[in-house]
Amino acid sequence: MVLETDRLFIRRFCPEDWSDMYDYLSQEQVVKYEPYNVLSKEECKQLAIARSDNKAFWAVCLKVNNKLIGNVYFQQQKPEEFLTWEIGYVFNPTYYKKGYATEACKRVMKYGFENLGVHRIIGKCNPENTSSWRLLERLMMRKEGYFKKIAFFSKSDNGQPIWHDCYQYAILDEEFLSDSIER
Ligand SMILES: CC(C)(COP(=O)(O)OP(=O)(O)OC[C@H]1O[C@@H](n2cnc3c(N)ncnc32)[C@H](O)[C@@H]1OP(=O)(O)O)[C@@H](O)C(=O)NCCC(=O)NCCS
Repeated sequence: MVLETDRLFIRRFCPEDWSDMYDYLSQEQVVKYEPYNVLSKEECKQLAIARSDNKAFWAVCLKVNNKLIGNVYFQQQKPEEFLTWEIGYVFNPTYYKKGYATEACKRVMKYGFENLGVHRIIGKCNPENTSSWRLLERLMMRKEGYFKKIAFFSKSDNGQPIWHDCYQYAILDEEFLSDSIER
């Protein structure tokens, strides 16, 4: 299964992707808002194997040279009958500010709405993560919630949760598809 855009191929992961994954998942600035820390080469090798078997993760590659520059996460939420999926994304900083993340997410969303019968797509991010909510807004998603201290990914030295806030965005099938000429 390969999705295509003007500049990108969006495909399933394979074990050989570990090296391109290490290029960005080894950087502090990339994992700052993720529920994991920077990854070692060995951890990237294991992750590439795991993602090869996980349909929720899409590898985003440049058409010009096949370089893997990031990933899009697209996972159905429960209960399944509500037909709601969550989108997420992590890209290599060398390729920021060129519109690649927007291009990849739009294509995965189009695939979801047109081929998987998706009704609603949600996206979540920490309000401090400006690049992330700006991306969700470029994707024409609507901010539907601002959850205060809803979760934590780590604890302080004395064992207290480090709570963070969360914005939640969403877009419906009819909203996305009615705007399909522009997309
Ligand atoms: C979130 C993330 C993917 C956003 O990356 P990004 O580079 O800002 O997003 P895009 O690739 O879509 O690029 C959009 C930018 O490129 C600019 N751009 C340049 N050429 C463009 C083109 N041809 N088409 C569209 N936009 C273009 C846009 O104007 C926009 O810039 P702006 O934000 O200053 O307005 C990235 O910051 C990231 O991976 N962060 C680390 C992981 C993370 O935090 N993930 C989210 C957890 S919730």
